[in-house]
Amino acid sequence: MGRLAGLLAVALSGGLTTAKSADSFDYIIVGAGTSGLVIANRLSENPLVTVAVIEPGTDQRDNANVTGTSVFGSAFGTSIDWGYSTVKQTHAGDRALPLHAGKAWGGTSTINGMTYIRGNVAEFNAWEKLGNPGWNWDSLFPYFKKSEKFTVPTNTELAAGATYQPQYHGFAGSLHVGYIPTLENGSYAPLVIDTWKGLSVAHNPDLNSGNVRGFGMGPQTLDPERNMRWDAARAYYHPAEHRPNLKIIQGTVKRITWAGARSKRGNIVAEGVEVLTAGKKPAMLRANREVIISAGSLRTPLVLEASGVGNSKILKSLGIKTRINLPGVGEHLIEQPSHFLQFSANLPMVWSAYHSYVTSSELFGPNLASVAAAARASIPRWAKAAADASGPGSLNVRALEKVFQIQHDLLFKHNVTAVEILLAIAGGGFSNYWTLFPFSRGSVHLAAADKINDPLIDPRIFLADFDLSTLTAAGKFTEKFWLSEPIKTQASVSGPVGVDLATDEQWHAHLRDTGKQPMAWLMLGPANTLAVSANSHPTGTASMMAREYGGVVDPELRVYGTANVRVVDASVIPLQVSGHLTAALYGIAERAADIIKGTKS
Ligand SMILES: *[C@@H]1O[C@H](CO)[C@@H](O)[C@H](O)[C@H]1NC(C)=O
Ligand SMILES: *[C@@H]1O[C@H](CO)[C@@H](O)[C@H](O)[C@H]1NC(C)=O
Ligand SMILES: *[C@@H]1O[C@H](CO)[C@@H](O)[C@H](O)[C@H]1NC(C)=O
Repeated sequence: MGRLAGLLAVALSGGLTTAKSADSFDYIIVGAGTSGLVIANRLSENPLVTVAVIEPGTDQRDNANVTGTSVFGSAFGTSIDWGYSTVKQTHAGDRALPLHAGKAWGGTSTINGMTYIRGNVAEFNAWEKLGNPGWNWDSLFPYFKKSEKFTVPTNTELAAGATYQPQYHGFAGSLHVGYIPTLENGSYAPLVIDTWKGLSVAHNPDLNSGNVRGFGMGPQTLDPERNMRWDAARAYYHPAEHRPNLKIIQGTVKRITWAGARSKRGNIVAEGVEVLTAGKKPAMLRANREVIISAGSLRTPLVLEASGVGNSKILKSLGIKTRINLPGVGEHLIEQPSHFLQFSANLPMVWSAYHSYVTSSELFGPNLASVAAAARASIPRWAKAAADASGPGSLNVRALEKVFQIQHDLLFKHNVTAVEILLAIAGGGFSNYWTLFPFSRGSVHLAAADKINDPLIDPRIFLADFDLSTLTAAGKFTEKFWLSEPIKTQASVSGPVGVDLATDEQWHAHLRDTGKQPMAWLMLGPANTLAVSANSHPTGTASMMAREYGGVVDPELRVYGTANVRVVDASVIPLQVSGHLTAALYGIAERAADIIKGTKS
């Protein structure tokens, strides 16, 4: 009987297997999402190494909501969307905001907008300053290329304004990256390019060069030839699924189980995981080497807390015995506030991923110096507000101030981009824009010891006023775009539809309006009815940072105080990135796999 069959037989017979008789694997990966499947593929390349991936979602390779390249949003609210909701957002109209996360082999890469944009060099280099030697753009760059299989744009797409520089791309990886075929219908692209140029937003020669500033048409995780999404399952699992040493087991990891004895260095040692299988039967799986948590920013901290790793005050209130007091678990949640507005424009319906990235200097113009100074002076206030909101023992105010100073340097010294503006020309000028580097910090924690599917998510949107004023500036800049030459005259554009947003006060009130709805997706309702929403780009909840900064994992992604538990997913990203998270994650997970194998270049 194979390992999997053995496990299922035990599970179906209703017995809880004991640790002794448990099925065992060298590595157990918690979550078959974007990062987990990269790790699973790379570790199981060695036929002598056994790997199990535990995942509540299922195989969705034939789901048209996954495979289609122009159906973004159709998977939202279906069975492959976790469909989380935040707690009511005190500073954003007291509304609960939806958050999307994929529940399928491939995780969120099966339902996201497929954007493949990595971010700015300085954003990755900042990780090193937070206590992570070896994590920077240069060390990640070979791994970005390793994962990528880039299809260059066609001549028609180049004529329509797509740009690329081959030195920034990989051509032999397993992740198809290319341009969406509808980009061919880009006859109005020159209008967009010229209008942005008039606002000092240059045409970017390649959005993946480590400099995203400017306007560009973003490549996506798709195979243009097949016109099909390339998610992490298609890229990393399907090519490996025949391997006898690799299994996906459907189930939910309830907790990590710990060995009685500590390691030589005094760290606790994971013995395996307790799993609730699809048939609701509990089972034990033994990890001969390591447990790797790749459950995503909204679930990874819950797995840690359920296993006794977290803020001891919170664990005590949940009735969970503390194994390691690690207050950063579930803290430092960074989510980008996002907003949509519709502008009237008689342009044809095309969805083609038009990204503009704008720096603080372009956004704030002559006010840049005063905005920077005001933000600098507000750092202690924001750090205190975040610590107060998170409760006793959670965040160290002084440490958070240092993290915020590094973020402030990114925005005002290294001139990384401050907002993204995404144009979707869909029978009008829909624009979606978001603050890239919010100074608000939120949290995600278990609501009760056994409620791993029902977390308390509080991104604390607009806790820091900077995030509101930056989103307002982004909205005003977007309006300026639509009302500038040549797009204005060519497309007879008028201002935002159905709202009167002249002053900053009106913008703020609109963004926080309790009567307005948070966004589900732009095609689903008139944009003028929408207040702020969350971008579903959560990071930071198991941050890779020095322990004194409130970090959860070390530079080898090992959870502090454990001998053999690592985290590999967006929760280790200690700040935000300007790019879209999946692009960064493929590189991070590729590098993590080499760290785990001990073959890091
Ligand atoms: C695909 O999306 C549509 C629209 O949300 C939904 O009605 C349908 O059930 C989904 N299909 C699957 C296979 O989930
Ligand atoms: C381009 O637009 C035309 C007319 O709207 C449409 O028939 C065609 O399918 C589009 N082509 C692509 C590749 O989307
Ligand atoms: C950032 O922008 C400021 C203001 O425009 C400028 O003085 C500074 O040289 C820039 N720094 C970098 C690293 O580009």
